[in-house]
Amino acid sequence: MRTETPQAIRLSDYRPPAYLIDEVELHFDLSPNATRVKARLDIRRNGDHAEPLVLNGERLKPVSVALNGRALGEGERTVDDEFLTIPNVPDVFTLETEVEIDPQANTHLEGLYMSGGRFCTQCEAEGFRKITWFPDRPDVLTRFTVRIEADRKFQHLLSNGNLLEAGELPGGRHYAVWNDPFPKPCYLFALVAGELDVLEDSITTMSGRKVELKIYVDPGMAPRAAYAMDALKRSMKWDEEAFGREYDLDLFMIVAVRDFNFGAMENKGLNIFNSSLLLADPATATDLDYERIESVVAHEYFHNWTGDRITCRDWFQLCLKEGLTVFRDQSFSADMRGEAVQRIKDVKQLRARQFPEDQGPLAHPVRPSSYLKIDNFYTATIYEKGAEVIRMLKTLIGAQAFRAGMDLYFERWDGHATTVEEFIRCFEESSGQDLSDFFAWYEQAGTPKVTVKRRYDEAARTLELELSQETPPTPGQPNKRPLPLPVAVGLLDAEGRTLAFERDGQAMDETVIVLKDGAAKVTLHGVDRPPVVSALRGFSAPVTLITDAEPKDRYVLLASDPDLFNRWEAGQGLARDLMLARAGGAPNEVGEERFAEAVGRALTDQAAEPAFKALLLALPSEQELALARQPADPAAIHEARETLRTRLALHLDEELRRLHTGLQQLGEFSPDAVSAGRRALRNAALDLMAANPRSEVVELARGHYEAASNMTDAIGGLSALMLIGGQAFEDALAHFYDRWKDEPLVVDKWFALQARDPGDGALGRVLGLTAHPAFDPKNPNRLRALVSTFASMNPSRFHDPSGAGYRFLADQILAVDAINPSVAARLVEPLGGWRRYRPEYGELMKAELQRIVGTEGLSKNVYELASKALA
Ligand code: ARG
Ligand code: ZN
Repeated sequence: MRTETPQAIRLSDYRPPAYLIDEVELHFDLSPNATRVKARLDIRRNGDHAEPLVLNGERLKPVSVALNGRALGEGERTVDDEFLTIPNVPDVFTLETEVEIDPQANTHLEGLYMSGGRFCTQCEAEGFRKITWFPDRPDVLTRFTVRIEADRKFQHLLSNGNLLEAGELPGGRHYAVWNDPFPKPCYLFALVAGELDVLEDSITTMSGRKVELKIYVDPGMAPRAAYAMDALKRSMKWDEEAFGREYDLDLFMIVAVRDFNFGAMENKGLNIFNSSLLLADPATATDLDYERIESVVAHEYFHNWTGDRITCRDWFQLCLKEGLTVFRDQSFSADMRGEAVQRIKDVKQLRARQFPEDQGPLAHPVRPSSYLKIDNFYTATIYEKGAEVIRMLKTLIGAQAFRAGMDLYFERWDGHATTVEEFIRCFEESSGQDLSDFFAWYEQAGTPKVTVKRRYDEAARTLELELSQETPPTPGQPNKRPLPLPVAVGLLDAEGRTLAFERDGQAMDETVIVLKDGAAKVTLHGVDRPPVVSALRGFSAPVTLITDAEPKDRYVLLASDPDLFNRWEAGQGLARDLMLARAGGAPNEVGEERFAEAVGRALTDQAAEPAFKALLLALPSEQELALARQPADPAAIHEARETLRTRLALHLDEELRRLHTGLQQLGEFSPDAVSAGRRALRNAALDLMAANPRSEVVELARGHYEAASNMTDAIGGLSALMLIGGQAFEDALAHFYDRWKDEPLVVDKWFALQARDPGDGALGRVLGLTAHPAFDPKNPNRLRALVSTFASMNPSRFHDPSGAGYRFLADQILAVDAINPSVAARLVEPLGGWRRYRPEYGELMKAELQRIVGTEGLSKNVYELASKALA
């Protein structure tokens, strides 16, 4: 047990920094086990006070501290595990410090560490304090000059900004000096040193400046950075067109590293990426990898304005940069890949990751008000719900006022660290609207339930819509306020034709109803025929929608809604209800048949894109079903979902085969969205066929795997064989490993595939894989491939009635916590949902959480999440 309960940090305790640092000069003498870091800080008192100077510093070995050139003795300064404190300092002074650190021993992968024999850094949120003493908070903005010295075998010496000079030194060493002209918080500092290959390109910005683009990767990997480079150039252009934002330095660099705690990091002028989100070629990367690379490259680049030029005053404002930047990358991806398909994928992701968070013990507002470890708040709520909030803002005030508000924000806050209040104020000014009610979206956790009921009066040709909302309580927030909710609505007739209507005397096809209070009524006029209501089009608000639509209405929407999101959603809703009915012991066989027929018709629709049809074919996940009706019975849900899949497979057999044959790749591989959509549909057809595995299907899947000329199809074939099971799968699995054992990113896929095997023997196999020579818990990608994939993507095996799946996860959390607490903490979430499951499952999950919390020496990171999950 922890001896003391860690202290929470609160938003309400925010104080401006006591001292500001205008300039810092860092001098790195790199060596894997003993790196020396000298820092020279130009400091001035901020305001009128007599506070001591307190600088953060952790795991630093002190060498020396001097103030205005005079070494400070023991009595003039104190150093403990967390701080360097100097009680009496002048108003303006220079502080010079020297520390020693051990990058080789740094398994937390925060601060300066080694990956594949190269030095690299990760400072957000609080890693800089593991490099040198500094006010490690985002509201201290400083100009950095960085000198790096190292053995010549560390060939490239990189940091933020512009290269001022570089040269040779005696003793086989060399150096480089970098200067970043833009003041920045220390979390945006970066340093990389090592042997790397580089892919180079350049662009000319809208004002005619030339910018060099360099992507640094492991030796031999430069060709695999080509797609990321292409995505980077498109992102830079898009930000100029969509937001008027231009890049500001003469050089933009990205470095890919294999050991990285999360996806990527927006350090000024020197982004650092997890190699899984940067490297791609057809043989080793799937279409999903390409898609994610495109969006993450864009995301990190967009941070240059929303994050770097304008940063957060404190970490409670994290959504100010993350929610906004996700909104920007989603908009970019929609422009690149098609709006409807992108929207469906974004909402799927929101429902899979954010909804469970918002409806469980770890629920928190988009802007939380307290935390123990800020690393635990890089969540789907801050990122994805944060993006939804911006999207609603744009819907509510309109595209023009939104763009004007963004322009104002860039103009007013450039070069500053600011808050969500100031951000929203810009839109109040640009739109002339009072947005104080809207602000509740930032302060209130939980997923609202919105109900829409209709009453059609044939004689009066009116449709009355009655809307209401309710947000269930979340931890610490028992009573919820109504939120301003934009609900986009359109009407269809029974034949699926668009029904025009009038609202407030104006004729239209679609309208946005803003529900501000608990309930409201809206009357639409001139409705000529009995309408089918298409509500919450485009998923206009992040809510759970409840309607009085009957199945027949949903079939109309599935066949004809011009809003493709709602067309997809209609199918999902029908499937969800059918599966829940079966899982609840009341199967509706007639309904299942009818659904299969409707999906069959949708598949033959010539106008619909393959990428959209692939999404139509994927039934709601078991996790989504578990969230929809509680207490959840994971075994019954699995059974119900498999039954519906089998029914679809039987019913659509001919059509699925036709798709599988017809969509074979003809020419060369291209990662573009249309080609990827064709592969997605072909693989989705195979996946469904695997639910009805006759010998022909086994042969088809084997042939698919063997003929695969790209990773998407190889994984598609292998997955289908896995669902079927048996010798064909074992052979292909062994073949796959043998073929790819020297490609770490592909070996990750090999682990992940087995981790999501729903088959009977899969749990034993997963447990055994921790002893595989290629399993490495120090590498976050490898660890997550096996452990997170199993816990979050394999519900039927994770929820093994014996509790062995839960025990495995808890064992892994505890083992990894000793190596890398922030990665360990991210594994806690699947256990957090214990209350949603039937008690025979929930109690076993809870027991594992209790075992975790009761473990000696647990990190703050894991403690915070596990104890909140139990509370
Ligand atoms: N800012 C990074 C991004 O682009 C992520 C940093 C994550 N840091 C953390 N401590 N989890 O989203
Ligand atoms: Zn980000």
